[in-house]
Amino acid sequence: MSNKTDETFVNQLLSQMTLEEKLGQLNQVNPGDRFDSSLLREGKAGSLINASGALTGQGFSDSGSAELSNHFQQLALESRLKIPLLFGRDVIHGFRTVFPIPLAQAAAFNPHLARQAASVAAREATASGIKWTFAPMLDIARDPRWGRVAEGNGEDPFLGAQMAGAVVQGFQGDDLSAPDALVACAKHYVGYGAAEGGRDYENGEISEPTLRDIYLPPFRAAVQAGAGTLMSAFIDLNGIPATANRRLLTDILRGEWGFDGFVVSDWESVKELIQHGVAEDEAHAARLALQAGLDMDMVSGVYLNTLGESLQRGKISIEEIDEAVRRILRIKHRAGLFAQPFTDPLRAPRDLLTPEARSLARDFARQSMVLLKNDRDLLPLKGFRRILLAGPFVHARGELFGTWTPDGRAEDVTPLDEALRQTAPNSVELWFAETSDLALHLAHHADAVVLLLGEHPARSGENCNISDLSLPPGQAEFVQAMAALGKPLALVVFAGRPLAITSQVQVVDAALYAWHPGIEGGAALGEILFGIASPSGRLPITFPRATGQIPIYYNRKNSGRPINPQGEFRTRYLDLPPSPLFPFGFGLTYTRFEYSNLTLSSDTLRGALAISAEVTNIGACAGTEVVQLYVRDLIGSLTRPIRELKGFQRITLQPGESRRVSFTLREEDLTFTRADGAFGVEPGNFHVWIAPDSQSGLPGKFRL
Ligand code: BGC
Repeated sequence: MSNKTDETFVNQLLSQMTLEEKLGQLNQVNPGDRFDSSLLREGKAGSLINASGALTGQGFSDSGSAELSNHFQQLALESRLKIPLLFGRDVIHGFRTVFPIPLAQAAAFNPHLARQAASVAAREATASGIKWTFAPMLDIARDPRWGRVAEGNGEDPFLGAQMAGAVVQGFQGDDLSAPDALVACAKHYVGYGAAEGGRDYENGEISEPTLRDIYLPPFRAAVQAGAGTLMSAFIDLNGIPATANRRLLTDILRGEWGFDGFVVSDWESVKELIQHGVAEDEAHAARLALQAGLDMDMVSGVYLNTLGESLQRGKISIEEIDEAVRRILRIKHRAGLFAQPFTDPLRAPRDLLTPEARSLARDFARQSMVLLKNDRDLLPLKGFRRILLAGPFVHARGELFGTWTPDGRAEDVTPLDEALRQTAPNSVELWFAETSDLALHLAHHADAVVLLLGEHPARSGENCNISDLSLPPGQAEFVQAMAALGKPLALVVFAGRPLAITSQVQVVDAALYAWHPGIEGGAALGEILFGIASPSGRLPITFPRATGQIPIYYNRKNSGRPINPQGEFRTRYLDLPPSPLFPFGFGLTYTRFEYSNLTLSSDTLRGALAISAEVTNIGACAGTEVVQLYVRDLIGSLTRPIRELKGFQRITLQPGESRRVSFTLREEDLTFTRADGAFGVEPGNFHVWIAPDSQSGLPGKFRL
């Protein structure tokens, strides 16, 4: 929250600024090919996006680099008031050290690790002259057709909020002015994941209670963690584009939550208000956005070009412009840019791609992979002499990165086949085949087969939506043909989204979801396949049986005719079971856990309640369980979800070891948006579960 030094400094500076200089601060520029750098000397840009890839012909490297941003900064400091630039870039899941995609990070159910990864990314990005990242992406996603599901934390608001807080803290640290602190930008505010049909940029409708209870909580957590900025979403939400939505950008964000940083638009989304059909021209679009509470225009130029005239015509006030400038200067001041505008070029060689960063990336990849099936304990692979690894990913390098990795380099990645060789026991012979023909031929002579299939990163991410959640063309047939040979068969899926792999899961003995695991993904996978590490990820999003089941998510409402496979007039499909392929929270390990003795500290919650259960490792090896706490509010003034996640803990137990896992449930954990529009609790009966996933667990009851 604003402190006095920020405010005094900002107001003094503001009082010296001309209108043009003020509009310059609201303008974010993309230094592309025809970049006119006199803009910087004249103070007409407040921020540069992607100050890299630009000017490559002038001797600068093609990735974010300290030299390049120092060069631009020098020009900005030649302007009359010497206001430094804020350099922004998409540092989404790592910079040079690429961590697993955000959806995979969420699967680790380990916000602590996410925080550490974000702090590594912050160190690397700031060493390369970047001071602001367009992350974390906090869009709740209930539709995996949407390509951007890869960039977020999945479907759950509680997990999303935990991740949001951790990642913001990781990027920003305790002091935004530290040289290795990166200003966070929670995006895309808000409702972007509700794009109809999973088509990116499409419109969406979200009811008020769902907006408040499902879509907003991660953003609120980011604001509470001190996020310096937010980005407005492209979406037209309930008829008002998010970029011009005063209720979202001002009433809720500033009024209710006390946010004092600034909001940037998404790429040209201010100008796009014309396409949306709410603005008649650029000047109108700029006014609508500014008056809604949108402070910085990402690259459309319409703030710089039109707000001056709108002011002269009395259509906007100088106070409105001043307020936006103030918020931007406040963050620049808090980020220490006035005191330290340049980046020390000696940092990058020291701070990029350190062994510690790589080892964190490996740990994260290991913890994010989810074991979905493991019949007769095929995994870890033991006792096989010749193992065939086959499919399009066998030699993968950059393909392991996933979407949004402008600063990752494929040559930093050990190719998957090599990484697997390095992790396999010496006694095992590994064979590799990229094509199905070769694989089917070699398989006859192998003792076990592992298929490495899934989506290329270019099939997920921004505007990479698909209408059919099946594996890419040819892969399903490959699995069937391989399964017909009757060899022990494991399937590893690389993907940026849940894929509908129902028939493949049926015919293989084991299935492991590896997502896009990042720079150390190969080694992490090898460690899991060969039993050096044990899988411990859990699904952060429901896996559908078929595309037609979308939307399907665990925290649904019961309906008047709830799911019941036997009931004719119950909600159902004629051609599919009602349940998902795998529920939210699900994931196996190499051992088995038993849950027993659920205990509540009281049958009534007054202030807080302790809920605990005993978890025992009843298998033969050590393992990590993600113990989950769910509640259901049985009767409400509005219908309530059949389950809501309220807590989780990762615990590691040795064979035979038992531990009582305890959660505290507080009254405020049971708040929701009620029929009267207020946010609060309603007394009554609740169910509670301590569970290994969202569909099972030990049940209990209490009253509030
Ligand atoms: C995306 C944002 C991103 C921005 C800047 C947009 O197209 O929607 O997520 O931060 O570009 O690269």
